[in-house]
Amino acid sequence: MSKTIIVSNRLPLQIKLENDNSLKITPSVGGLATGMKSVHAEGNGIWVGWSGLTEEETDSFTKKKVNEAVKKEKCVAVSLNEQDVENFYFGFSNKTLWPLFHYFMEYTEFEKDQWESYQEVNQKFADVVLEHIEDGDNVWVHDYQLLLLPKLIKDKKPNTTIGFFLHIPYPSYEIFRTFPWREQLLEGMLGADLLGFHTYDYERHFLSSVKRILRLDVKFNKINYHDRVVTVDSFPMGIDYNKFHDAALTHTNQNPKEKSELQRRLDNHIQSTSNAKMVLSIDRLDYTKGIPNRLRAFEYFLNKYPQFKEKVRLIMLAVPSRSNVPQYQKLKRDTDELVGRINGEFATVSWTPIWYFYRSMPFENLIDLYTSSDIALITPVRDGMNLVAKEYVATRTNEDGVLILSEMAGASKEMNEALLINPNNFEEIADTLKQAIEMPTEEQSKRMKILQKRLKRYTVEKWADEFMKSLNATKIKDTVMV
Ligand code: UDP
Ligand code: G6P
Repeated sequence: MSKTIIVSNRLPLQIKLENDNSLKITPSVGGLATGMKSVHAEGNGIWVGWSGLTEEETDSFTKKKVNEAVKKEKCVAVSLNEQDVENFYFGFSNKTLWPLFHYFMEYTEFEKDQWESYQEVNQKFADVVLEHIEDGDNVWVHDYQLLLLPKLIKDKKPNTTIGFFLHIPYPSYEIFRTFPWREQLLEGMLGADLLGFHTYDYERHFLSSVKRILRLDVKFNKINYHDRVVTVDSFPMGIDYNKFHDAALTHTNQNPKEKSELQRRLDNHIQSTSNAKMVLSIDRLDYTKGIPNRLRAFEYFLNKYPQFKEKVRLIMLAVPSRSNVPQYQKLKRDTDELVGRINGEFATVSWTPIWYFYRSMPFENLIDLYTSSDIALITPVRDGMNLVAKEYVATRTNEDGVLILSEMAGASKEMNEALLINPNNFEEIADTLKQAIEMPTEEQSKRMKILQKRLKRYTVEKWADEFMKSLNATKIKDTVMV
């Protein structure tokens, strides 16, 4: 029976070595891993990716244990050494492609050594995939760390059907054209038979780069490339709606004795003040997420509308991410400082305006946060999709709550009933926060209902089905352009 091989830089499980040499296994964070996990669990395929450990950390005994642990989850580990992690992962992936594709030109480094490492590591992934491919298999490659992989596989196995999905924005041609190895990157991607993006805008930007840089013949969403036709389309990624909705329902009917420590603290806050409102944000600590903007806008809001002092609390969960990259370290310092300053300025004996958590939380605690918050304030300055916005909506089992969402998140394209804001406009964020706090429950429910209906219909399973359907359609020869 043919299978689908999923390939991404990170496996859905992350492995760390404890001091006693035992393995600590945790779920990976980020939209790619949380979304694709449900898809992978259902299918009969394998998932190829990095385990999180380096070759230097693993002797042959540990390697065997790692391979067994990932095999249990239908995964196969790609082995990376410290240099690879430094130059390919922290380096080219996260100091070049990530900032460039998110329009952070000033953070983007173009280092030849890192580019070479990027090519070598993409080849390492290709070697592992090629070892596991059988006739008739589909390969589904994910994200910006593996842009060269489709071509590396296609060159060796031309009959394999290859899909590629980009989980981050694809930038406009004016940004992409600055990239020194732009032809190679596009040719790498065009090894795929189907290329998927979250939104039509990203798709359009990609087609424009292909036309202008490679001068290829593009008709609608099809590209004539050598003797093949490459299809390009948008597939906005959804979430496992029932998983979040059902967890929230169970949470509401929870026996008080079973409540988590976090939930007890949240309950205390809710009971301590009449009309207290809880505003939530959850993101990886990433400069694309607009965290300092959000904090400054919240400060601006407390100054502009002092009647909400002691009434509103911002709960901010920032998940540690890529902490070897200097810009992330700076963001951590800036965030700590801003939170400290705002809390210092406004706190009273009974109220701290911002509760700040710098850690990742297990699923149950995320549900505690989502279900206890009246408002979600999600303000990325640039974000491919943003699944947190969708997860918040899915957990609102009483159809209440308000989502404030940046128009720079891909998710905003499908979430018109949210209150959409420009993350650089503090005035607008402050006024929208007031509007959300004062929104009548009928209006909350009217908006929530529509949002929920849409998310329930276009789940992550549906997203994967649609992608696979389009991928299989590329096998039919009459899709060829003339
Ligand atoms: N998430 C998680 N653990 C946490 C906080 C968040 O697993 O402690 C998950 C969250 O539920 C969501 C994902 O991380 O599914 C974040 O995805 P999103 O698309 O919002 O942003 P990304 O991190 O991919 O940029
Ligand atoms: C985003 C990216 C993913 C990445 C995730 C977490 O969701 O699109 O490819 O895995 O962030 O980042 P990390 O660098 O820890 O893998």
